[in-house]
Amino acid sequence: MNALQLDAQQRLRHLITLDGLPRELLLRLLDRADALRGASAGGTRRLDLLAGRTVMNLFFEPSTRTRTSFDLAAKRLGADVLNFDIASSSTVKGESLIDTLHTLEAMHCDAFVVRHRENGTAETLARHLRSAARVVNAGDGNHAHPTQGLLDVLTIRRHRPDFAELTVLICGDILHSRVARSDIHALRALGVGELRVCGPANLMPAPAELPGCRLFDDFDTALAGVDAVIMLRLQKERMSLAQVPSEQAYYARYGLDPRRLRLARPDALVLHPGPINREVEIASPVADGAQSRILEQVENGVFLRMAVLAELLGA
Ligand code: NCD
Repeated sequence: MNALQLDAQQRLRHLITLDGLPRELLLRLLDRADALRGASAGGTRRLDLLAGRTVMNLFFEPSTRTRTSFDLAAKRLGADVLNFDIASSSTVKGESLIDTLHTLEAMHCDAFVVRHRENGTAETLARHLRSAARVVNAGDGNHAHPTQGLLDVLTIRRHRPDFAELTVLICGDILHSRVARSDIHALRALGVGELRVCGPANLMPAPAELPGCRLFDDFDTALAGVDAVIMLRLQKERMSLAQVPSEQAYYARYGLDPRRLRLARPDALVLHPGPINREVEIASPVADGAQSRILEQVENGVFLRMAVLAELLGA
């Protein structure tokens, strides 16, 4: 995949997955996000790094945070942004998707930001480009969500800069989570001390898909002494009926409530990519509590996406 994502000088050409990307590149993106936070005065000052460039958001799946975040990131760098809306994703696939790409390319776009329910869509589009446009994966199936992985480690790093000292736990519907996969790639690349993954057996992928992770099915045991816990949503839209647990039973075993949070380190960070389901995977007092970094993740996401777009478009 790096042959597609990196050019001969090891610069980022497309961002499809964090899997295999060099640690230096990830650090560079995180540093750049911090620099852009400063340069844009926390997002209040518009920059012109991407003036005259066009970014196209192609979201074939619903999104609040990610799409808005890419939209704002591009605009705050001075780019023109188009939001291409596709109401019914299932009818737009295969050849018609590539035809759509070529049609949009003919109008000239510098970057395509793509979300799709099928694994591999961003990669397919990157491989079929006829122009020098860049592709950013904004989430494909359960495969990857690289900017979410990066913004999660950016959020952790702002509080705990030394990853080697950290124990991080990811809990929930791991099987269907592209966020979990990208978080795992990012955390491992940055040398996290210990990485734990917890969820019910039927929502856990095969252990071979979770390299370098300690696996748990008991949430209390998994939480003991962690520095950060990343909670995930039950992604019912990706489940078969047999997989859907009762929300009450799930909350009883895997809900992060104030009692459970006390099992982690006293200052443990609580993250969630959103959208959150209150009282399904996380209790309101925890989601809204002093240890919650959920809205910081949203804030950091804009700077991180500014960094990715600036890097890809050579600004
Ligand atoms: C996630 C996604 O769409 O993968 N949300 C997001 O991008 N912030 C996680 C989810 O939908 O549960």
